[in-house]
Amino acid sequence: MEDPLRPAVRPANPNFSSGPCAKFPGFHLGLLSGAPLGRSHRSAPGKARLAEAIELTRNVLHVPPDYRIGIVPASDTGAVEMALWSLLGARGVEVLTWESFGEGWAADVTEQLGLNATIRRAPYGEIVDFAAVDFSNDVVFAWNGTTSGVRVPDGDLIPADREGLTICDATSAAFAVDLPWERLDAVTFSWQKVLGGEGGHGILVLSPRAVERLESYTPAWPLPKIFRLTQGGRLIEGIFRGETINTPSMLCVEDYLAALRWAQSVGGLPALIARSQANAQAVADWAAERDWVANLAADPATASTTSVCLRFTDERIRDADAFAAAIAKRLDAEGVGHDLGSYRDAPAGLRIWCGATVDTSDVQALLPWIDYAFHTELAAQA
Ligand SMILES: Cc1ncc(COP(=O)(O)O)c(C=O)c1O
Repeated sequence: MEDPLRPAVRPANPNFSSGPCAKFPGFHLGLLSGAPLGRSHRSAPGKARLAEAIELTRNVLHVPPDYRIGIVPASDTGAVEMALWSLLGARGVEVLTWESFGEGWAADVTEQLGLNATIRRAPYGEIVDFAAVDFSNDVVFAWNGTTSGVRVPDGDLIPADREGLTICDATSAAFAVDLPWERLDAVTFSWQKVLGGEGGHGILVLSPRAVERLESYTPAWPLPKIFRLTQGGRLIEGIFRGETINTPSMLCVEDYLAALRWAQSVGGLPALIARSQANAQAVADWAAERDWVANLAADPATASTTSVCLRFTDERIRDADAFAAAIAKRLDAEGVGHDLGSYRDAPAGLRIWCGATVDTSDVQALLPWIDYAFHTELAAQA
């Protein structure tokens, strides 16, 4: 007999991974047929594509004209490492961390660079106290903690007139929140997140003050070629015109261009932000009506609108990890929701990617399947 709880409607796109994230609606490989494949990235068409990617990034994200935008190797991680290794060491450092990626940057700063940094930590679900941060130091943080679903609630928490630099890993925030550029000095992200692009390439955005630091300070440690942003004490300006340090994938560049054009076609940044917000709101409304599920973010003001993390609160659940994993597995096997398991270091639960490329109708179609999987799993456990 058909289970009455089993939903009739399925998400049109069941991809809810937090990276690489769902391709934008209407994406097909034919959109990449104009890529200058087999040509040098330093040829006229190659350079034009890379310059256009930088220009469209500036246009969609409203990056100020005096900020540099560079395409760099090794995805978001590459861009963050480049910023840490190139900029830090000139003054005190604070790392703010409330989940696994922030922890990774804290470990790099203290263990790899050997800096005597202040580490401000909050547990999963919470955020550090920004009022306690000394912004005369350089401050490193991830805007949106992808693995806890907790994000900076308000850019005003960062002073506009700080002395230190702010280095912000914005990979699961860019294109989904209004980043306060005047409060950020080095901002990084990867194409594979909110725009549903491909991994492998990072974007590094630098404020004039970050450039000033690069041109006036030489770190005590050696820098590998792929991190080097200066030559003879001057910024290598070519990097910020699309003359990449090493060879990019022109197929990935074409894919990023397609995503940026899609972003413009739906209404640019305000529309991207609205799409993420509507998706996260659909999950929040659904969770509010149930007493067995809650957002991992303790304060709704800090709840992510991209990586929405949920925990199961029903007291009948005996093994939280096994229960959450079984639900994610069931949703995957049903073909209604892929990659929904919480991050390996995060508390047990589900993580639903709600970034701009996800249609709200797909989130709405997924939620009854979570009801179904929850009740089915609970019965199986009994
Ligand atoms: C906050 C944050 N930082 C860094 C990364 C690493 O990104 P990438 O694999 O693109 O280097 C991720 C990936 O999920 C992330 O969410």
